[in-house]
Amino acid sequence: MSMQIFRTKPLSSNEHSDTGLKRCLSAWDLAFLGIGAIIGTGIFVLTGVAAATQSGPAVVLSFVIAGFACTFAALSYAELAAAIGGCGSAYGYSYVAFGELCAFIIGWDLLLEYSIAVATVANGWSGYFCNTLTAIGLPLPDALTKAPELGGIINLPASVIILLLMGLLLMGAKQSAKANNAMVFVKLITIAVFIGVAAFNVHPENWQPFMPFGWFQTLPGGQTTGVLAGASLVFFAYVGFDAVSTATEEAKNPQRDLPFGIVASLLFCTVIYIVVSGLLTGVVNYTQLNVSSPVAHALNLLGYTWASALISTGVIAGLSTVMLVLYYALTRIIFAMSRDGLLSPYFNKVNPKTQTPVRVIVICGVIMSLIAGFIPLGELAELVNIGTLAAFVLVCLGVIVLRITKPEMPRPFRSPLSPLFPVLGVLSCGALMAFLPSLTWLRFIVWLVIGLIVYFVYSIHHSKLAKA
Ligand code: ALA
Repeated sequence: MSMQIFRTKPLSSNEHSDTGLKRCLSAWDLAFLGIGAIIGTGIFVLTGVAAATQSGPAVVLSFVIAGFACTFAALSYAELAAAIGGCGSAYGYSYVAFGELCAFIIGWDLLLEYSIAVATVANGWSGYFCNTLTAIGLPLPDALTKAPELGGIINLPASVIILLLMGLLLMGAKQSAKANNAMVFVKLITIAVFIGVAAFNVHPENWQPFMPFGWFQTLPGGQTTGVLAGASLVFFAYVGFDAVSTATEEAKNPQRDLPFGIVASLLFCTVIYIVVSGLLTGVVNYTQLNVSSPVAHALNLLGYTWASALISTGVIAGLSTVMLVLYYALTRIIFAMSRDGLLSPYFNKVNPKTQTPVRVIVICGVIMSLIAGFIPLGELAELVNIGTLAAFVLVCLGVIVLRITKPEMPRPFRSPLSPLFPVLGVLSCGALMAFLPSLTWLRFIVWLVIGLIVYFVYSIHHSKLAKA
C-alpha cells in the first residue's frame, strides 16, 4: 500500500520553520561539517592498508575512482537537499521519490551506516589516543583499552569519547559546529605539515610497480584485491559529505548553502586525498604501509619524529570531528523517521532550551558508547561503505525519477548534465558495491531483513501517512 503513496510536501520540507530545531548554521559551518565528517580514518589509516594489500601505489587511482563516484552522488544530494530538504537526508528524498517502504529501508540502512561508522572510528581514535598517552609516559593498562574479546575489560577511551561528543551535541548545533571548526583547523594543519615534509622526500622508484595487484581479482575465501577493490575500500574516506544534508533544518539558508556545503567539502577533500595518497606511496614503499598509522609511520621512517607526533595530534582531533558529525547525522535521521511515525514518537522531542533532540542524542550516545567499549569493531569499514553506497544509488535514482514525475518541482540547485551524471552515479556506486567482499554483502542483507521485520511489525501501523 505505502509504495504507492507519494508525498508532495514531506513533513520535514524546507518550508517548515517550526521543526523545533534552531536555524543557526552558515554556509561555511556546513562546508566545515562536511570536511569534519570526511577526513579521518580513511586517509589516516585505510590509505596504507589499501596501498599495501589492494592497490599498491595505484591507490591514488583508487581515490580518483571513488572520488568520481562520490562527485556524481554529491551533485544529486545537492539537488535534492535544496529542493526537498528535511533532516532525513536520503531517507526523506526516497520518501518523496519512491514512497514509504523504500524510504524506511534506506533510513534503516543509514542507521547502520552512521552508528557503525561512529563506533568503528571510536576504536581507531582510541588506538591513536593510547599511543599518544604511551609516548608521553602515561600508558593506560591493557584491561582498560581492549574489549573483552581481545583480553581486556573495556575499551574505555572509545567509550568515553562518544559520551563527550554526546555532551557537545546536547549543548546545541552551533556549539557543536564551533568545536568542529576548531578541530577541522587542527586536522588541516597536520595534513599541510605532512604535504610540506613529504613533497621534498619523494623517491619516484617507490611508485614502481604501480599496479602490483592489477585492476581486480577475487581471492579464495571471497576477499577482493586490485585497484577497483581498493576504490571500494578507500570509499570510506569519502563517507560523510552526505551527513551535511542532515543539517538542512538547522541551516540558515538551506536552499543556497547546502549545495555549497556538500559539493565544496567533497571537492576539497578529493584533492587532498589524491595529493596525500600520491605522496605517501612516493616517500615510502607501499609494502611498508600496512600499519595502523601509515602517515605518522612514513614520517617516522623519514626521521621526522616531531612531525609524526604532530600528525598523531591531528588524527585525534580529526577522528573526533568525524565521529561528531556522523553522530549528529544519525540523530537527525532517527528524529526525521520518528516524526514521520516510522520509529517511536519518543525520539522526536526537542528540548525547547537547547533546541536539540535530546532523547535521541542520549540514547544513541549510550548505545554507541557501549558498542565501542565492548565490541572490537576494527573491521567494519566495508559494512559502512555498502550502506552508504546503497543510499547514494537511491539518491541518484531519486533525481532521475523526480525529474520525470515532478518536473515542475522548484530546484534551486540542479545536478549538471542530468540524467547523465545521476546515471553515472548509479552505475559507479553500484559497481563499487559489487567489488565488496561477499561477507559484507551477507551482513548488509541480514541488517535489511531485520529492517523489513521492524517495518511490517511496527512502522507500517504507525506511519503518519498510512494513518492519514
Ligand atoms: N570519511 C570518514 C573517515 O574517513 C568516515 O573516517
